[in-house]
Amino acid sequence: MHIRIRKEKFGYVLFDRETREHYFVSTQQTIESLSEKGIIGFLKSYYKVSEDLEYSFIFPPTNNLDLSAPVGIYLEISERCNMECRHCYKPTPKKVKALGTRVKKLLLNELACVGVFEIRLCGNEPTASPDFFEICQFIKDLGLYLGVNTNAYFDYTMSRKIIQLNPNFVAVSIDGNETTHDSIRRMGSYKKAVNFLEALSSTKIKRRINTVLSQLTIDKIGYTVQLANDLGTDVSFLPFRPIGRESSMKMDKYLTKESMYKAVSEITELREKYPNVRLLTYFDILDQKVIYHHSMDFNSPCPARKNGFISYYGDFFPCDFLRYLGDKFLCGNVYKNGFWRIWAESRVLKSFQAIEHQKCKECNFYMKKCYGGCVCGSKTSLDSIEDELCFINLL
Ligand SMILES: C[S@@+](CC[C@H](N)C(=O)[O-])C[C@H]1O[C@@H](n2cnc3c(N)ncnc32)[C@H](O)[C@@H]1O
Ligand code: SF4
Ligand code: SF4
Repeated sequence: MHIRIRKEKFGYVLFDRETREHYFVSTQQTIESLSEKGIIGFLKSYYKVSEDLEYSFIFPPTNNLDLSAPVGIYLEISERCNMECRHCYKPTPKKVKALGTRVKKLLLNELACVGVFEIRLCGNEPTASPDFFEICQFIKDLGLYLGVNTNAYFDYTMSRKIIQLNPNFVAVSIDGNETTHDSIRRMGSYKKAVNFLEALSSTKIKRRINTVLSQLTIDKIGYTVQLANDLGTDVSFLPFRPIGRESSMKMDKYLTKESMYKAVSEITELREKYPNVRLLTYFDILDQKVIYHHSMDFNSPCPARKNGFISYYGDFFPCDFLRYLGDKFLCGNVYKNGFWRIWAESRVLKSFQAIEHQKCKECNFYMKKCYGGCVCGSKTSLDSIEDELCFINLL
């Protein structure tokens, strides 16, 4: 176990390099325990472990921000994708100058210097980028936690090379059974994704299946969990968001709050049947045992407040989804403004972080079982965000 510890105005962020979990700990909590037990004693009792663990400190540049730097950055290193999935929001490539490998490395250096813990390569298909391996190795050499989101539409040689690279975390998209997946994604893509997950199962790389929940996949939840159980992975069920290139998916395939309720009920039951499979989803309010554990999470209606997304062109948004709501959430361009200035000074970012989610604030589940709805799920005014997939009124 290796815990990275970052000093903050409110206390510390603890980031576990094995599980990828992070916790916000207040100064008071830490000081009391530290004086009693010392740092190792404090960490052992915090994580409830008896074996020895390693730790290292990160000291971000002095600042007075609520959170000195993002916990993780989702980074788009590829402009291309080898698929045209029916649900995908990915944009048409811009005809502007994009990032070269040297510039990507300068950015990664800056992210490491300011104390970011994790880089997740996502967006389009990262493995389709000619500098994929070079960038991955650079991220690892900087001591950052490396995660990769992929469709795994590649051959055996590529699969072996990724395993040799040994990223910390890999998320592979699987949308239903073979017939459904191939009809949404690409003929033959299901087999490749499953083969890659099988190959990963003999390694220590943390892995997960990502499934987009829509009317196309909602009746395949049980199938996916059984598959995850066989392959030894977690599953994250992400609700389909009708944004971006959404016109490729017909409206009758969209989720409704009724179908989201049905999906969460089924997922709750499946947790009993498959206790070894970790199932993640949204609006997870039916399961008595699920507790949203981040003790101090800035009362945010959305995890984007502690993370960030940087597009292939260097545009910074609080999350990937938000770039499809027009430029109102564009916080700046990391190549023009510098990442650090955007994080510290962007008015757009601050106004996003200040958005209040009235319905959630009144909800008993808020920050206990559910971190709230998604801004991009709100079709109404951003002053009164209500995610239309929240089914609390149906309970
Ligand atoms: C944009 S992809 C990038 C990585 C890779 N190309 C893949 O498909 O896994 C990241 C995840 O977002 C999901 N996704 C794409 N469009 C979406 C949408 N409109 N709503 C919700 N999730 C979506 C994808 O299925 C995938 O699991
Ligand atoms: S979901 Fe992933 S694989 Fe599919 S088109 Fe979008 S970026 Fe490409
Ligand atoms: S009101 Fe907000 S916190 Fe409560 S269940 Fe709905 S989205 Fe979650």
